[in-house]
Amino acid sequence: MTTRPGLFVSFEGIDGSGKSTQARRLADHLRTEGREVVLTREPGGSAGAEEIRALVLQGEPDRWSAETELLLFTAARRDHLERTIRPALARGAIVICDRFADSTRMYQGLSRGDLRAAVDTLHALMIGVEPDLTLLIDMDPAAALTRAKARATAEERFEDFGLPLQERMRAGFLALARDFPDRITVIDGNRAPDAVAKDIADTLKAHT
Ligand SMILES: Nc1ncnc2c1ncn2[C@@H]1O[C@H](COP(=O)(O)OP(=O)(O)OP(=O)(O)O)[C@@H](O)[C@H]1O
Ligand SMILES: [Mg+2]
Repeated sequence: MTTRPGLFVSFEGIDGSGKSTQARRLADHLRTEGREVVLTREPGGSAGAEEIRALVLQGEPDRWSAETELLLFTAARRDHLERTIRPALARGAIVICDRFADSTRMYQGLSRGDLRAAVDTLHALMIGVEPDLTLLIDMDPAAALTRAKARATAEERFEDFGLPLQERMRAGFLALARDFPDRITVIDGNRAPDAVAKDIADTLKAHT
């Protein structure tokens, strides 16, 4: 077997935009091409980070202050990076991560006061890596929220914030894509899953 370098890919976008669906499909696609794929998610992706996931995604919307929440997300990401992402990249796997630091830049950085500077400082201090490629699935927030609400789960702490937040997050993600054009590719999510998946597979080809 030839050794190929690892590749770190993240999926970003508002709730219900199809990140988890497309992350799974991309993982399946790359595995059929013989690549080792580690499909993971945030918050979570390692044993410790999954415990933190329950703390941040369940319960009342005001359970944590914005600052405490940011620290919990950063702690979870650090553990995920140490235990899951770095080891996988080191052995040449493709890591596909369902949300990564861009979600924190948006949800913790923008949604409850302006914590973006704190988010970036903590990221530089404790995480310090970005994905090689970020696929931003962009879509209409009302349609995305309808999709997201159709799934009943206990992890609704953020979905409870509703449509106005989704509108702001969409605009924020698109602004981020303009700030990091080399890393972030915008994918039109207002289409059937097959069409979205093909677009994503084509984008990956340029990187593998
Ligand atoms: N292209 C699509 N067209 C129609 N429905 C879709 C499409 N992609 C995903 N869905 C459905 O919409 C719902 C949300 O999709 P998914 O869970 O992949 O979104 P997500 O971005 O991961 O959401 P969240 O941020 O809440 O985790 C699911 O029920 C999924 O089956
Ligand atoms: Mg999801």
